[in-house]
Amino acid sequence: MLQRSLDLLAPALERPEAVVVDCTLGLGGHSEALLTRFPDVRLVALDRDKEALRLSGERLAPYGERATLVHAVYDELPDVLDRLGIARVQGVLFDLGVSSMQLDEADRGFAYAQDAPLDMRMDQTTGMSAADVLNTYPAGELVRILRAYGEEKQAKRIVAAIVREREKEPFRTSARLVELIRDALPQAAKRTGGNPAKRTFQALRIEVNGELSVLERAIPAAVKALAVGGRIAVLSYHSLEDRLVKQVFAAGAATTAPPGLPVVPEQYQPRLKLLTRGAELPTEEEVAENRRAAPARLRGAQRIREDAE
Ligand SMILES: C[S@@+](CC[C@H](N)C(=O)[O-])C[C@H]1O[C@@H](n2cnc3c(N)ncnc32)[C@H](O)[C@@H]1O
Repeated sequence: MLQRSLDLLAPALERPEAVVVDCTLGLGGHSEALLTRFPDVRLVALDRDKEALRLSGERLAPYGERATLVHAVYDELPDVLDRLGIARVQGVLFDLGVSSMQLDEADRGFAYAQDAPLDMRMDQTTGMSAADVLNTYPAGELVRILRAYGEEKQAKRIVAAIVREREKEPFRTSARLVELIRDALPQAAKRTGGNPAKRTFQALRIEVNGELSVLERAIPAAVKALAVGGRIAVLSYHSLEDRLVKQVFAAGAATTAPPGLPVVPEQYQPRLKLLTRGAELPTEEEVAENRRAAPARLRGAQRIREDAE
C-alpha cells in the first residue's frame, strides 16, 4: 500500500519547495520512497523510538539536508514544525502501529511468540512498561483496557487470572502471561482468532504507549498543518485506529452549517475532501508478500479550505 499512499500524496508534492511529514519514520522505508519519488520535496520525519531514528538516520544520510529526523511523539507535530520555522506542509503520512524492527527485537517485549521482558514501550526512555501496567492497575481498569483496546470478550476471566497470579509474584516476562491467558480461556474461545494472547498484547501495547489518545490529537493537528491543497494519507492496522481516522476525516468533509440553510455560506463549507471511498484494503498479492499488511486500511484526504475565522 506504499505505492498507493504515495499516489494519494503525489498531486500535492509534485511542486517546488513542498514539505512532507512522515509522522512514523520507523526504518525509513516510506520516507526514502518519498524522497526518491519526489526529488524536490523536503522531508520532516518523526519517531518516538530512538533506535528507529538511529537506523533510518543511516539509511537517509545520502539525502543530506532534504531529510530532517526528529525524536518526537507525533501529536507534537505543531511544535516540531514551529521549531523548524515551517508554517504549513503539503503532505502528511502516518503508517501507524509498531515497526517490524520493534516486533522482531525480542527484548522489546511486543511479540507474544517469544519469551521476553514485558516492556512494549516504543520510547524506552520514558513511561510505564507493560509489566508495570499488569502489576499495578486495578482489576476494573485492566478489564476496561482489554475490552476497549483488545476487543477481548473474555477480559474478566483473563483479568481475574492475572490478579490471582500477580499476588503470588509480579509479572516480568511474556511467556507466563501467554500461558496464563491460554489456561484462562474456555476451549471455544481458543478455537477462533489466532493466538489467544494476541488481543491482550494489543491492548497492553495501546495502553503503554497511549496510542489512541495521541492519535486523537495528532490527526486533527496534522490536518491543521496542511496548506490548502495539501494531502494526508493514513495507514491503520486495527479497527480502533481506523475508526478514529474515519471520524476526523468525515467531520472535516462535512458542512458545519445549521440545518435548513438554502445556501451554505463559506465559513460552514467543508475543509476536507475525501480521497478514498471508505478505507482501501491491501490486495491479495500484498498480503501474500507480507502477512503483517493483512489488516491495513488506507484513508486519504485533501485540505480544500482554511478553517473558518
Ligand atoms: C509501522 S512503523 C513505520 C514503518 C515505516 N513506514 C517504514 O517504512 O519503515 C511505525 C513507527 O511509528 C512509530 N510510532 C508509533 N506511534 C508513534 C507516535 N505516537 N509518535 C511517534 N512515532 C510513533 C513507531 O515507533 C514505529 O517506528
